[in-house]
Amino acid sequence: MEGKTKSTELVGSDELNYDREVELSELMSTKAGVKGLVDSGISSVPRIFKVQAEQKHSEEFNCNNKQFQVPIINLEGFQGERRQEIIDDILHASKTWGIFQVVCHGVPSDVMKNMLRSVSEFHEQPRELKEEFYSHDSTRKVWYYMTVHPVRKAALWKDTIACQFEDVTVDYQALPLICRKPMSEFVEHVNKLKRELSKLLCEALGLDSDHLEQMECMKARKLVGHYYPSCPEPELTMGTPKHSDPYFFTILLQGHVDGLQALHQNQWINVQPVDGALVAIIGDMLQLISNDILKSAEHRVLATRRGPRLSAACFFYPTAVNQKLRFGPLKELLSDSSPALYNEVTHVEYLKHYSLHGSCGSKPLPDFRL
Ligand code: OGA
Ligand code: NI
Repeated sequence: MEGKTKSTELVGSDELNYDREVELSELMSTKAGVKGLVDSGISSVPRIFKVQAEQKHSEEFNCNNKQFQVPIINLEGFQGERRQEIIDDILHASKTWGIFQVVCHGVPSDVMKNMLRSVSEFHEQPRELKEEFYSHDSTRKVWYYMTVHPVRKAALWKDTIACQFEDVTVDYQALPLICRKPMSEFVEHVNKLKRELSKLLCEALGLDSDHLEQMECMKARKLVGHYYPSCPEPELTMGTPKHSDPYFFTILLQGHVDGLQALHQNQWINVQPVDGALVAIIGDMLQLISNDILKSAEHRVLATRRGPRLSAACFFYPTAVNQKLRFGPLKELLSDSSPALYNEVTHVEYLKHYSLHGSCGSKPLPDFRL
């Protein structure tokens, strides 16, 4: 009987789904986010946040596996005698994991600290100060929002501020005053690191080091600042469900609270917070143009009691003026024994397809296979 009640509650009949829609829009209309709900003093997870149990307790759920560790690559000396060693490490990590951490990357530690502090300051402001940014319109330059699980229609345990820099020249004035300086400094530094990593990736693939730069596929940036409040019942909900990033490349900064996991050989492995490190993630589009040499990483974030968990992710993709560029496997990487695996696609087409089909948990790259 108890089991029955539970499964009805989690799976939901049409009527319950209808309630869910109403409750979701009621929650969103507060414009106070999950943070606002937590501040109101709840001691359990409201039903609209519950994801089906199998989502978290499947066989692949194994976050304490000591056998694997997400690679950590020290970039010190990358312009000198260690360059080839670093290139080999990056190639190996990108082929087998699609995700790795970098240290000694050149982004100053106070720039990283200030970035995370500004994420927390933005989300911890009184509702009156942040509600003007509340929106689900992703064409805005800046917007703050809650996320709904695309398939299960459950709200997720996080609030996000997103800023989009579609042009080469960036209008930092659009950013909320409270995070303007830290975010602009972070984006500038991370952009520099992206240029260096893009050269190293090119060399790893045997291409000219400016090949990706010339393709103009990673010039636009979207910066998101996630705030995962402390969760009273973390096993019932999710921070970010399993996904791959539908861009070319991601550089992510996480604070000291764990929860980020990468899927490796069918097991969820913690991406341990390492002081001063940044996380590099291969996106679906880089997998596509590398003809599957590089693999995009599937990853997720668990809800946790030890909150708030803070993170900032910078995604790289083509600017608006390059919207019509078509991307397919690079001809330099093809041969009789390695024929092209994918059709050509624009990034906008890929994003559209991803939002319709890709959010079910597995990446939709195979849909573009020849
Ligand atoms: C993302 C993401 C991870 C994190 O925003 O795509 O995977 O640690 N974030 O918040
Ligand atoms: Ni991601």
